[in-house]
Amino acid sequence: MMQLSKRLEQNSLIDSKITFFLNQLNTWYTQNKRDLPWRQTTDPYKILVSEMMLQQTQVMRVIPKYDAFLSRFPTIEALAQSPLSDVLSLWIGLGYNRRAKYVHQAAQYVVQSYKGIFPNTVEDLITIPGIGPYTAGAICAFAYNKPVVVIDANVKKVLNRVFGVDVCDMPKLLKKLLDEKIMQPRDFYNALMDVASEYYARGASLEHYPFTQICLWSNGHDIVELKTYKQSKFIGSNRWYRGQILKMLNAIPTGELKFSDIEELNESEKYVSAIEQLLAEKLLVRDSVKIYLAK
Ligand code: ADE
Repeated sequence: MMQLSKRLEQNSLIDSKITFFLNQLNTWYTQNKRDLPWRQTTDPYKILVSEMMLQQTQVMRVIPKYDAFLSRFPTIEALAQSPLSDVLSLWIGLGYNRRAKYVHQAAQYVVQSYKGIFPNTVEDLITIPGIGPYTAGAICAFAYNKPVVVIDANVKKVLNRVFGVDVCDMPKLLKKLLDEKIMQPRDFYNALMDVASEYYARGASLEHYPFTQICLWSNGHDIVELKTYKQSKFIGSNRWYRGQILKMLNAIPTGELKFSDIEELNESEKYVSAIEQLLAEKLLVRDSVKIYLAK
C-alpha cells in the first residue's frame, strides 16, 4: 500500500491541479466564450432541440437549422401537434434523421404526460422516449444550471488530455470539479465545449491554451487512449453489431431497414460488414433498397 504521507501529498497535488484548472478555465471562458444561439435561452425545449442537433453535427451547420426549426416550431406544443413529416423536412441536411423522430416523440410525451413542462431531474428526463442519459444531463446543466454529470465528446477530450483519465473515472472527476463551485455548471460545460472546439481540432494552434502548465497531453505525456463508443469488449464487437441489427429489425413495425437509414448509423461501416455476413448466412434478405429478416 502507498505510504500515507505520499498519498496525502498526491491528493493535495490533484486538488491544486483542480483549482488551477478551474481558475484557468474560468478566466479563459470569460474572455473567449462563443455566443451561440442556444446559450441565449434556458428553455429546456430549446436546449433539447439544440442538443439533439449537436449530437454528431458541427456547431456551424447546426446554427441555421436551429433557428429555422424554432421559427417553425416555437413551442413544444407546436412541435407536438405537427406531423412527423414536417419535422423530418426541417431536419434534412443535419443527417441522422432518427433524431428528428426522437425530438418529436419527446415533445409529444412531455405535452401529454407533463402538460408541456419538462421535468428537472436526470431520473425523470431519461424516462422520456427519445431522451437518453447525455441529453437528460445536458438539459439539467444548460436549462436548470444543475451540477450533474454530462459527458460528450468535448468533455471527454478535455478531461482525458488534461488529467489523463479514462471515461470510467470522469463522473467522479466532474463531481469534484463542480463541487469546487468556482464555475456555475452551465458555464463550466459551455467552457469545456469551447476549449475542445478551439484547441483540439486537427492542426489547431495551442497559443493561449489555458492548460499549458498542467496538461498531460500538451506536455507530451502518454495518456490512456479514449475508447470511442464501445465500453466493453463485447460492445462494438462484430457479434454486437449483428445483434443490434437483428434487434433493430425486430423493433421496427415494418421489419425493414432501408440502405439510406443504415448509412446514417453511427459507425455504419461496421453495420455494413455485419449485414454482409448476416446476408451470406441467409439470416437476412435484401432487395434493391432495403434489408429484412428472413422468413
Ligand atoms: N456539443 C454538444 N452540445 C454542445 C453545446 N451546448 N455547445 C456546443 N457544442 C456542443
